[in-house]
Amino acid sequence: MEKREQWGSRTGFIMAAIGSAIGLGNIWRYPYVAYENGGGAFLIPYLFALLTAGIPILILEYGIGQKMRGSAPLSFRRLNEKWEWLGWWQAGISFFIATYYMVIIGWSLSFTYFSFGRQWGEDTEGFMLGDYLGVANLAENSWFGGFQWNVFIPVVIAWAIVFFILYRGIRRGIETATKILMPILIVVMIVITIRGVTLPGASVGLNALLEPDWAAMANPEVWVAAYGQIFFSLSIAFAIMITYASYLPKKTDLANNGFIAAFANSGFEFLAALAVFGTIGYLAMVSGVGVDDPVQSGIVLAFIVFPQIINALPGLNDLFGFLFFGALTVAGLTSAISIVQVCISAVREKFNLTRNQAVIRVCGIGFLVSMIYVTSGGLNFLDIVDYAVNQFGIVFAG
Ligand code: ALA
Repeated sequence: MEKREQWGSRTGFIMAAIGSAIGLGNIWRYPYVAYENGGGAFLIPYLFALLTAGIPILILEYGIGQKMRGSAPLSFRRLNEKWEWLGWWQAGISFFIATYYMVIIGWSLSFTYFSFGRQWGEDTEGFMLGDYLGVANLAENSWFGGFQWNVFIPVVIAWAIVFFILYRGIRRGIETATKILMPILIVVMIVITIRGVTLPGASVGLNALLEPDWAAMANPEVWVAAYGQIFFSLSIAFAIMITYASYLPKKTDLANNGFIAAFANSGFEFLAALAVFGTIGYLAMVSGVGVDDPVQSGIVLAFIVFPQIINALPGLNDLFGFLFFGALTVAGLTSAISIVQVCISAVREKFNLTRNQAVIRVCGIGFLVSMIYVTSGGLNFLDIVDYAVNQFGIVFAG
């Protein structure tokens, strides 16, 4: 039997785990979830969810993976044969997340490029929905509409990067990539945050984010939102941590690693929220709109509101755009490799494939399924899958 791959060092594993946790969810999702669910008061259910579910489940998943030394289905089977399906359920969730997550990374990649010369123009909504995604061109009663070649190309590039990293394996691929990319991401995020909170008007945005609405605490939905955010953001309940921990050496201090990863993830989330709300405060000041107008849910809005903010900045607009969308792309890629790796190890161990065979099959099929979201109607499918996965799939698995 082929020897099981292993992380090269403890730092390598922690970096990969943090890289997986810090993703699109931290940058675009946390700020508006916090804002909509009690502002500063949201910190209480959030920290409660982190301590009662986030960290315990994270450490539990590390424990299962490290002890059972298998992909999620195999680890659950080794615990008890009756539970293998739960591993497949989680691997399935990961597969569906991967297919649309890669498309959003493709958008970020495009917008990193569009930052040069602010190619989105003044009407950022018209640009995103009309010119770029082609949603506006979708005929009534039509499901898919035409193929969007300008989305296809960045999605191909994103899949190619992920394929290349995963093809090189755990140590040479994932560990090396995250060790290079994570420090860059954190430095860029600190730069963006400093810029965000020092803009004129930033305090208005920060007040909106941090002002506690204590009444929200009595609303059960706020608590559900806190648990949902913790699950998605920490990458728990969809088999990632079981898979990553299965490549750990037998003697590893799991609890400490869990605390480091969890607090790094939350720290990054707070940074992103400060940056986002600082800049939204500025936008509100220069454009005269209320702070709550630009803050709406939905991934697509990050690609409408941020270009507006970048247009309105007092200087270095293109550079700021490049850094912001570049950071979103990198954060997405280091999470995407972990999500796809879940499926690779599950399939590989079930069907006795070599690593390369598994990587080619999973990335190939994943890529083909992603093509659904590359059509004019793709955004509707993306919304449906994202909603189903987050509201039912992950919470059920948790
Ligand atoms: N944990 C990853 C994210 O936040 C999936 O996007």
